[in-house]
Amino acid sequence: MAKKIIKDFNGDAATVTWNSQLCIHVAECGRAKGDLFDMSRKPWCDPNTSTNEDVLDVVKRCPTGALSVVFSDGTDGEKSATENTITVVYGGPLVLQGELEIEGAPDDAPGLKFRASLCRCGLSKNKPYCDNSHANSDFKDYGAVGDKGAQLEETGGPLKVTLMENGPLRLSGNVRIVAGSGRSAWQGTKTALCRCGLSKNKPFCDGAHRGSEWRSDV
Ligand code: SF4
Ligand code: FES
Repeated sequence: MAKKIIKDFNGDAATVTWNSQLCIHVAECGRAKGDLFDMSRKPWCDPNTSTNEDVLDVVKRCPTGALSVVFSDGTDGEKSATENTITVVYGGPLVLQGELEIEGAPDDAPGLKFRASLCRCGLSKNKPYCDNSHANSDFKDYGAVGDKGAQLEETGGPLKVTLMENGPLRLSGNVRIVAGSGRSAWQGTKTALCRCGLSKNKPFCDGAHRGSEWRSDV
């Protein structure tokens, strides 16, 4: 696994932090309007080029939690989305948004409280986080979701993600699962999502990890 680099980009009112181990280079930040990120410039992130509102908007687009921001002038920082959602990306990770409590989330990645991309192909070297290994693999899944779950009476509140050893991601909390097509597919408060890549009922765990050689710590 590549060495972790944490970079702080200091502006007069905002400090943007980037965590190299979580970034999967989908470039949501680089394509946002404005000059906050410019890969041809050094430093490539300059918070003084944008208003605090625009800085926060770009940081919140980062699907992995690699970006976070702290404002020193009293501007409110990022708040959790009012609903917990998990999008099953076509051939890629599970993208989580909301009030996230991911077991073992490192303190130097505060963005993971709001946004995260979790491996579901089983191949990441930075589990439970996606490291883009799916892109060079045979993992194929279009993000279809079969089950509907129960209807939620309320949304929001903490979403706890527990990492089962050599097994799935256990979810506890109000959550909606969005299929790869963008369809709102499943709602409920408890389920287990496959992270070994072997389930025949993705994104849910169907027990296929049992008896397989897949290991969650590799
Ligand atoms: S949006 Fe996040 S994951 Fe994507 S390139 Fe920027 S920092 Fe990396
Ligand atoms: S974690 Fe993949 S089937 Fe259980």
